[in-house]
Amino acid sequence: MISTGDISIRPMKASDFGLMAKWLSDPKVYEFIHGKPKNLAWVNKKYAPRIAKKEKINSCIIEYQNHPIGYIQYFDIKPYEADYEMENTNDIWAIDLWIGEPNFWDKGIGSKALKLIVDHIFKDKKAKKIIIDPHVDNLRAIHVYEKVGFKKVKILKAHEAYKNTKVDAWLMEK
Ligand SMILES: CC(C)(COP(=O)(O)OP(=O)(O)OC[C@H]1O[C@@H](n2cnc3c(N)ncnc32)[C@H](O)[C@@H]1OP(=O)(O)O)[C@@H](O)C(=O)NCCC(=O)NCCS
Repeated sequence: MISTGDISIRPMKASDFGLMAKWLSDPKVYEFIHGKPKNLAWVNKKYAPRIAKKEKINSCIIEYQNHPIGYIQYFDIKPYEADYEMENTNDIWAIDLWIGEPNFWDKGIGSKALKLIVDHIFKDKKAKKIIIDPHVDNLRAIHVYEKVGFKKVKILKAHEAYKNTKVDAWLMEK
């Protein structure tokens, strides 16, 4: 668990899956992520292997004043480097995050949670570089990532599944 003020980031547990499914089936939230709702069976299939440490993706819950409000993941991109159009990577990590409770958007929490995990990855994982990949039309996310010091590098074409297609994303790095 890592914390700053009212914000904590802790490993995800199987008991969080119901809440994850609630967040990912809220149209206000999934508009910015998969473009369509995801149910509990989908959440279980995707995240159970991570909790069982069969996949090296650190899946975590963001808490505000001890209440879970969102999801954040971070991982060494080595096994996934081709997805980012990179090769021979070493010590490059990626982050994805979202706040699943829209009432908590635009209150400074996402910026602080991102900075907290960035500091953790540089210090404790000895990363040389961190990347993040918002959809090109997610202007709030891009603004937040720039606020935390990420810079746009290039557009990754058809990078992420969204609705029934694939959309472009900015590769940003810090
Ligand atoms: C993106 C997200 C993580 C940001 O966290 P947050 O707590 O809402 O962000 P903050 O409150 O720290 O900062 C929001 C900033 O964006 C700005 N902003 C809000 N809407 C905006 C928009 N449409 N375009 C540009 N900037 C916008 C705010 O003014 C604020 O900037 P400021 O501090 O310079 O005034 C969160 O909003 C979220 O989870 N959204 C839905 C899912 C999502 O988009 N996830 C990211 C996937 S890459």
